[in-house]
Amino acid sequence: MPKISFQHVDKSIEADEGEWMYEVVERAEGGIPFACKAGACGTCATPVVEGIDSLGKVSAREARTLTELGLDLDTYRLPCLKDVGASDVVWGRPHSAADADTELGTHEVVVESYRPLNLTVAELRFFVDKADFHARPGQYMIFHIPDAPRTVRRSYSISTPPSDTRHFEICVRAVAGGYGSNYVHRLRPGERLAVEGPYGDFVLDEASERDIIMIATGTGIAPIKAMLMHLLDKRSKRRVRLFFGLRHETDLFYTDLLRGLAAHYPALEYWITLSQADPARWAGPRGRVTDLIDTHVSAADAATSEVYLCGGRPMIESSTAALRALGFSADTIHYERFF
Ligand code: FES
Repeated sequence: MPKISFQHVDKSIEADEGEWMYEVVERAEGGIPFACKAGACGTCATPVVEGIDSLGKVSAREARTLTELGLDLDTYRLPCLKDVGASDVVWGRPHSAADADTELGTHEVVVESYRPLNLTVAELRFFVDKADFHARPGQYMIFHIPDAPRTVRRSYSISTPPSDTRHFEICVRAVAGGYGSNYVHRLRPGERLAVEGPYGDFVLDEASERDIIMIATGTGIAPIKAMLMHLLDKRSKRRVRLFFGLRHETDLFYTDLLRGLAAHYPALEYWITLSQADPARWAGPRGRVTDLIDTHVSAADAATSEVYLCGGRPMIESSTAALRALGFSADTIHYERFF
């Protein structure tokens, strides 16, 4: 039987040839996080230390996801897409846990509060019952959704800054038929659940002194809020421009919070745009966030600014195209894509 090893957590297990690799990871508690389990998100991307040939060819989807993450196709694989081959494999430390501080494995959190932000979005606050919890601004947690026909995992970005080491918050939109989001919306104070993380490399570059442009749609504001609150905690002087896109007036949330942040952080300017606003009820910008790039970002910003994007794929792609056309290099554009 092939032996599958997880070097970063010092575990090994025997597996059947043809067995799904993610089931082996879970059986071995191999410390590789999964979210989509479909090769789309890149959460599970992990270097293969030995035995890469027994994992078969790289599929087009796997190649696309690894390439988008800037990972070497000769070294990395997505275990969610792999079967166990004929020979042994040794996995390294997952890309999403590349930060040495990242906690690997599962731990329990307690719901401290549930607060509706509008008709579909709620903010949840969790108490972390461990002393060494540390998330970087922009990272996410993976939630284990129990009682499903099978184990379901969902990723939610942390919306609070690292200064609170015993709590974190998320904001979640209820999606019709969405098992994970509806489960999270039913959580109430006192309930316990298992989480993994924090994970992710969509994090604020704290060593940089460049101006910051942030673009978020919907609940993509969550990691952006964590970054903003962290900049405020650190009394940063960096100039920040935030473009926040929603659809209707009824989708608005965090308007008071942004007003408060701007009052305390003079270098922050922000614009909220509604793509399907009723002109009789909304006097602010109308249209897509990319329209705000056209009006508030110039080619001169490409030399002095870096960008953080969070939202759905179309927004990420159209914003990236608009920024690249202005001269922003790929390494100044950081993004987290929601699915
Ligand atoms: Fe999303 Fe593997 S879990 S790519």
